[in-house]
Amino acid sequence: MPSYKLYKILHLTGISLASMTAVAFAYHAWLGGTKEAAGLPRKRLLGAHGIGMILIILGGMGAGATSGLFADGLPGWLAAKLVFWLVLGALPAMPYKRPGLAPHLLWIVPALVALAAWTAGGFVPLTR
Ligand code: HEM
Repeated sequence: MPSYKLYKILHLTGISLASMTAVAFAYHAWLGGTKEAAGLPRKRLLGAHGIGMILIILGGMGAGATSGLFADGLPGWLAAKLVFWLVLGALPAMPYKRPGLAPHLLWIVPALVALAAWTAGGFVPLTR
């Protein structure tokens, strides 16, 4: 049975993989690259992004279950997390469809990660 720590490591590894690959696509589109010209590297990055997405949901669900966060049923913040997950999943297609968005993804992706980190376990106050 995997521990909370292992699930958390899987979750964070997935976030790192999915975020890095999403920004890599943005960088390519920002430089004027197209989907067609991206070739094999695009396929490799898409594969890595997919693995990252699986690790995020597997690690996140596992961390929630092993830390008791889901003991009283599925919490409301989980819906927000699922939305962030879907947004992160859609990001590889976005820079090629809307190249004007590409430079902004450099900041949108870390902001999404920060917001998702705050969401984990509910929006608790950030000062004490
Ligand atoms: C449905 C998908 C997701 C589930 C079920 C989920 C669940 C969780 C859980 C249970 C934790 C640990 C909370 C704790 O230890 O108190 C966590 C932490 C974290 N999650 Fe997610 N998460 C999901 C999606 C995401 C996504 C898409 C991102 C990034 C875009 C993300 C970013 C983070 C980060 C950075 C942390 C570390 C912050 C912390 O431990 O408090 N999560 N998540």
